[in-house]
Amino acid sequence: ATASSLRGRKVMITAGPTREALDPVRYISNHSSGKMGYALAQAALEAGAEVHLVSGPVHLQTPAGVVYHPVESAEEMLAACLAQLKACDLFIGAAAVADYRPVAVAEQKLKKGAEELMELRLTKNPDIIAQVAAQTPKPFTVGFAAETQNLLAYARSKLARKGLDMIIANDVSAPGIGFNSDENAVTLITADSETHFATQSKSILAKTLIEYIAAQLPSPSIK
Ligand code: PMT
Repeated sequence: ATASSLRGRKVMITAGPTREALDPVRYISNHSSGKMGYALAQAALEAGAEVHLVSGPVHLQTPAGVVYHPVESAEEMLAACLAQLKACDLFIGAAAVADYRPVAVAEQKLKKGAEELMELRLTKNPDIIAQVAAQTPKPFTVGFAAETQNLLAYARSKLARKGLDMIIANDVSAPGIGFNSDENAVTLITADSETHFATQSKSILAKTLIEYIAAQLPSPSIK
């Protein structure tokens, strides 16, 4: 991105996994490392933006200069996003948010019983990016779609269903890209375009994506 393409813009990025507690010592989560979201935060910083990084638990260094909002669960991530959303120009959802969480969090460590089968009851988490896109005024909203099949069709349906301006389709079944790798390959989809970005490091890809998104951002409104 050019050094000034996001100057004066407020950008919020979600990154990493969420953790959904089962009891004080256990949780449900996924393999997101945060690398994609952190690379986007770094690229947005370099493009001159004020960057808010809302992150689940990861093992990465927080880019110097971002406003950092650490969270664990999807409900915490939603609250942190909505609390900071005022005057936000661009929202990018790179986090792998758990779609479901345990119905109840046990107060004490769950004990092993005699039974061989144990059933977990889960309830749906809030859809963070859909709630962001439903705000008025809403930021330009960019989602990711992590899919293991029917990549572009599923991504296009998420673009429409969640009310997004853009979605970045990520084939997470291909080896060497997607979750927890250093490289990624994606297809950026809008209502009327489809642009493929071949396998490359997440940091270089992030710069290209930020530049591409910055060029599509509506001019700043009077705030
Ligand atoms: O973190 P890395 O190891 O670098 O890996 C990067 C990545 C594969 C996690 C990333 O590139 C990616 O694809 N992130 C989105 C993962 C995901 O959960 O996708 P989804 O198709 O389930 O969700 C679609 C969109 O809705 C995403 O923007 C997601 O952040 C958002 N979402 C989903 C569920 C939910 N309850 N709230 C949300 O905001």
